[in-house]
Amino acid sequence: MNIINVHQLHKQFKVSKHRRGMWGAVRNLVSQDYQLVEAVDHIDFQIGPGELVGYLGPNGAGKSTTIKMLAGLLVPTGGILEVNGRVPWRERQAHVAEIGAVFGQRTTLWWDLPVIESLALLKHIYKIPEARFQHNLAEFTDMLALAPFLNTPVRSLSLGQRMRADICAALLHEPKILFLDEPTIGLDVVAKERIRQFIKQVNQARGVTVILTTHDLQDVEKLCERVMIIDRGRLLFDGQLKSLRDRFGGRREMIVDFTESYPDVAVEGAQLIAHDGVRATYQFERDELTASTLIGRISSRYRIRDLTVRETEIEETIRRIYEKGLLES
Ligand SMILES: Nc1ncnc2c1ncn2[C@@H]1O[C@H](COP(=O)(O)OP(=O)(O)OP(=O)(O)O)[C@@H](O)[C@H]1O
Ligand SMILES: [Mg+2]
Repeated sequence: MNIINVHQLHKQFKVSKHRRGMWGAVRNLVSQDYQLVEAVDHIDFQIGPGELVGYLGPNGAGKSTTIKMLAGLLVPTGGILEVNGRVPWRERQAHVAEIGAVFGQRTTLWWDLPVIESLALLKHIYKIPEARFQHNLAEFTDMLALAPFLNTPVRSLSLGQRMRADICAALLHEPKILFLDEPTIGLDVVAKERIRQFIKQVNQARGVTVILTTHDLQDVEKLCERVMIIDRGRLLFDGQLKSLRDRFGGRREMIVDFTESYPDVAVEGAQLIAHDGVRATYQFERDELTASTLIGRISSRYRIRDLTVRETEIEETIRRIYEKGLLES
């Protein structure tokens, strides 16, 4: 049984065309001219309970628009959208009781209230029983290290503190699903790592289903087995992170240390991109040559002391998909 079911989901925005100049201003008054933006363009996906899925794409791809529809904040233009067996925007109240959402770009807490009071308000809004609330608050305070700033007004928090407070707020009512829209944006490496560990813990220990959008591919590598990639409203990829590399990974690198320094270590089928003393770096197409064939070719001529094979960086793989996606349309 899927917990999220999306079929031909689409969202169009009407953006008014703004005319420039004096005549433009006059014409803006008389006629409204609209342009339609397909923010989400007929996408399909299903997500099972307990999955942790990375939702990737360049700026303006349609990620936040999708998340807002899933969270019941935006009404789709068309298509089927079911979360927890409900249509989010139609049964909003019941829906929000079962989901949590964090939008990294802005807080959902009360700006002028101390963190603890914001959280206490949520207890009333979600009707969380006192004991549950205290139990969860203690656990999240500990895991997210909230204690030093529980009494600080939200507006005075650093970005990293605010993000942790927001994440705590999204989970106090024990939702089954958590939507995280750029939860690590603008954070330093330590803060990012702490949030990643928390997300992993919540997914694994509490079985919370998580959809995560991010521009930080470390987030994805450390957290997600499955990724979906969207670009200009269209889903370009949905599958295992592993198979992303198989399909779009391109070139591999082999770094070889020889037992002695050879003047020429070129072999056929691979490109020698660096050669310095006893170390040489080769690049080869993963579709054309297996690593073991290459090792065979090298070792038949030179004595190898040690070697490592490097996959293309995930950054590079994703960049290739974005570029390829642009070429196809
Ligand atoms: N309320 C709106 N009115 C008009 N157009 C909108 C609105 N919200 C989003 N858009 C447009 O829809 C498209 C998708 O935007 P969206 O915010 O979903 O992108 P995103 O993938 O979240 O990008 P980013 O990585 O920059 O956050 C963009 O072209 C954007 O300008
Ligand atoms: Mg966004």
